Amino acid sequence: MSLALNLVLNGQPRTVDLDDPRTTLLDLLREHLALTGAKKGCDRGQCGACTVLVDGRRINSCLALAVTLDGCEVTTIEGLADGGRLHPVQAAFVNNDAFQCGYCTPGQIMSAVALLAEGHAGDDPERVRELMSGNICRCGAYRGITEAILEAHRTLADTDREDAA
Ligand code: FES
Ligand code: FES
Repeated sequence: MSLALNLVLNGQPRTVDLDDPRTTLLDLLREHLALTGAKKGCDRGQCGACTVLVDGRRINSCLALAVTLDGCEVTTIEGLADGGRLHPVQAAFVNNDAFQCGYCTPGQIMSAVALLAEGHAGDDPERVRELMSGNICRCGAYRGITEAILEAHRTLADTDREDAA
């Protein structure tokens, strides 16, 4: 028996038939919906490669059972750009060479988007590193990642100031 799961996926309402209630959100995205941006690194909540947003909060999608997310809003790296325009965090990762192999990058970016939205990091590199500690980069591109997040923070703050003016 399959279960009907309703999601808002990257801004679009979707109904998905789940054959197996044990399917994780990560497997649903990658294996059933062909959204392969979120990566499977450890599959046990230890690397952050699978990070996506659920209702605006970052989660390890390898640990979330899809069946528990009925009615939720899910955002993946595929849903971040605005048409052809990169999200400020994506643009900042490019500007700062914040990757080498790129395997961890979608998870790093999704985590950074949520971190900036949470408003906790400010312009403190140590705080950024601490708040990003759940996202492992085996290539050691941490310096660029931190610089990218700080740049995105400045870009988003400038945008907020312009919007308020
Ligand atoms: S694959 Fe989910 S945390 Fe590593
Ligand atoms: S860029 Fe290779 S794992 Fe991070």
